[in-house]
Amino acid sequence: MSHKATCTAPSNIAFVKYWGARDLDRVVPENPSISMTLRSCVTRTTVEHSDEGGDDIVLWRPESVDDDAPLVLEEPPPSFAERVHRHLDHLRRRFGIEGRLRVATANSFPAAAGIASSASGFAALTLAVSAAVGERLDVATASTLARESGSGSASRSVVGGYVQWPAAWPSDDAVPVADEEQGGSGGGFAVQLAGADHWDLRDVIAVVETGAKETSSLDGHRRARTSPYFAERLLRLPRRLNTVRKAIETRDFSTLGPEIESEAIDLHCMAMTSTPPIYYWRPGTLEVLAAVRSLRADGVPAFSTLDAGANVHVICEPHHEEAVVARLDAIDCVRRVLRDGVGPGPAASGEHLF
Ligand code: PMV
Repeated sequence: MSHKATCTAPSNIAFVKYWGARDLDRVVPENPSISMTLRSCVTRTTVEHSDEGGDDIVLWRPESVDDDAPLVLEEPPPSFAERVHRHLDHLRRRFGIEGRLRVATANSFPAAAGIASSASGFAALTLAVSAAVGERLDVATASTLARESGSGSASRSVVGGYVQWPAAWPSDDAVPVADEEQGGSGGGFAVQLAGADHWDLRDVIAVVETGAKETSSLDGHRRARTSPYFAERLLRLPRRLNTVRKAIETRDFSTLGPEIESEAIDLHCMAMTSTPPIYYWRPGTLEVLAAVRSLRADGVPAFSTLDAGANVHVICEPHHEEAVVARLDAIDCVRRVLRDGVGPGPAASGEHLF
C-alpha cells in the first residue's frame, strides 16, 4: 500500500530579519522576525509513503526558470540531501512513521540565492510528509515542525499574508526574547499579522546571481554574535518590530518602506562585520540598490530588502510595479527580474512530481 501527497509552499521575504539564535540546534531565535509570504516563488514537493522497506529516496529538480520545461528529477547535492534526510528522520520520530518515503521537490525560482528556498522547501516537505502519512496539522504545529528542520524562516512559510515568528511580542523597553512557552520546544511558531488580501504589496526581485551562495544562513546565525553591531541591533529591534507591525496594520507604505530598507542594511552590516566576515553582496547588488534610490528620486516609492544573498527584493505598491520592473530590467548585470507579491500561503495540490 502506498499514499502520495503533494503540497506547494511559498518563499517569504523578511521585513524584520531573523539573524542569530539563542539556541541554534533547537532554532530558538534571538529576536522575533516579520515577513511577507510570497505568491509565485514556491516549492512543490511530492511525498509517497509506502509499506515497502528500504531507505528513503530524495530527488529534486535542480534549477527551474521555465515551468513548461520537461520535468527532470536528479539526485540533489549531498549537503541538501543530508538536511532533507535529517528532517525526514525528525518527522518519522514525531509521527511514528514506518516504511519508505519517496520525496521529489522542485522550486519555481533559483535556489540558495537570497530567495528563501530553505523556507519554502522545508515548509513544503513538512506539509507533504504529514499529508502522505495522514496527519492533519493545525497551523501552529505545522509551523513548529517546519522550524525544527533547522530553517527558522520555514516556520513563517506555512502561513499566508504578513507573518511574525515567534508570536511573542517584546514590550518597547525590553530586549526581545523568544517565548519559551510557545510551541513547546522554545522557538515557538509563526502567526499571521494580516492576511494576503489586507494589503496588496509587490516584490520585484532583481536576480543578479543564480549560483549557490558561499556562506549559508546557518553559518551566518552562528557568527551573528561576533559582530560588534549585533547587541546594538537587538536594543533597537523592539521599536522596529512595532513600527513595521503598525505600518502593516495601517497599510502605511511611507513608514514601512524606509524601515525595511534600513533593516536589510543592518543585517548585511552585521554579516560583513562578523568573524569571519560574510559578503553576500555582488557588484550587481549595489547597482540595484542605487537604481532603487534613483527610482525614489524620480518619485516612485520603492524600497529594497535582501535576505542572506546577493539578490535584491524591491517592495512597492501595485501601481508602481511596472516602473520598478522597467528600471531593473534595464540594468546589465540583472539576469532576470521576477515579479512576485504577497500570497495566501501553502496549498495541497493534485499535480504530483512523479
Ligand atoms: O531560516 P534561515 O535559517 O535560512 O535564516 C533566514 C535568514 C534570513 O533570510 C537572512 C532572514 C529571515 O528572517 O528570513
